Amino acid sequence: MSFEFNEKNEDKFQELLTRYPKKDSLMLPSLWMIQYQEGWISPEAMQYLAKKLDKSPMDIYSVASFYTMFHLEPIAKYNIQVCKTLSCMLRGSEDIKKHIENKLNIKTGQSTKDMKFTITEVECLGSCGTAPCVCINEDYIQNTTPQMIDEILDGLK
Ligand code: FES
Repeated sequence: MSFEFNEKNEDKFQELLTRYPKKDSLMLPSLWMIQYQEGWISPEAMQYLAKKLDKSPMDIYSVASFYTMFHLEPIAKYNIQVCKTLSCMLRGSEDIKKHIENKLNIKTGQSTKDMKFTITEVECLGSCGTAPCVCINEDYIQNTTPQMIDEILDGLK
């Protein structure tokens, strides 16, 4: 499997090159473009980006693996991100996570066989005042309860 930017992303990359004095600045926007294009950041895509930015594949990996929003494995259509940081933990995020695992019959870090749902555990989602917080793709669920999870997931099935 190989990777290269589609025409739209290549055009965007070339445009960004004119805006920044250092190619390093294109690291995060390029990773986003890869993820939007492919759904995840594959090893082949990291090698491709490393060549474009004059970096090593390990440089790309070290950045991509630092941020939980970048997926280093294929994920399902709906990525259910459960916050595991203090406020959410104190307000029951562990129980919410177990509820989701039981409902979907998978463990955190796994995807359902139909590739509809993936459960991931993430650090603070920046919504501590409404803990426990869960984020499905880019939509936040706040003051999350098992009943809310049931309604939302049933609606997505
Ligand atoms: S601790 Fe969960 S959103 Fe901040």
